[in-house]
Amino acid sequence: MTTETQQAVLAEIDKALSSERDPTRVMEQVVAVLKREMPAYTWVGIYLLEGDELVLGPFLGKPSPHTRIPLARGICGAAATEKQTIIVDDVHADPRYLACSLETRSEIVVPILSGAQVLGEIDIDSDRAAAFGAPDKSLLEAVASRLATKLKDRTS
Ligand code: SME
Repeated sequence: MTTETQQAVLAEIDKALSSERDPTRVMEQVVAVLKREMPAYTWVGIYLLEGDELVLGPFLGKPSPHTRIPLARGICGAAATEKQTIIVDDVHADPRYLACSLETRSEIVVPILSGAQVLGEIDIDSDRAAAFGAPDKSLLEAVASRLATKLKDRTS
């Protein structure tokens, strides 16, 4: 992904969010822009932390069986617990992986952090092996920071 693509996607997200305050609509807009603009992003979803479970919110792609994930499980649980982005190049080689679709080959999970507090995370699957790299990490961490700003009032 070029820096131009990254900036264009961020600009589009900023535009979509500029007049949006409803948390569900904010998440829907982010998911829609990422799914539309990034061809390798086969499944795009947002989980929100509720107690010690991650609860699936807006997503695009095939329905996932994992609508509630305990913090102790999955790549999703690991990213929230470690409070850092996890990239898995080959999901079948990662024992933490909870399968969502048979076609999925790689995954990135980016926590949505407000200071040290985990609000949720962006989870993206690709049907391509090793589809995610440093540019995806930096794009999605910038998106997660925008989401944190919009979502943090929801919990306060
Ligand atoms: N693969 C995730 C579960 C969520 S689905 O991919 C949508 C995990 O291992 O935590």
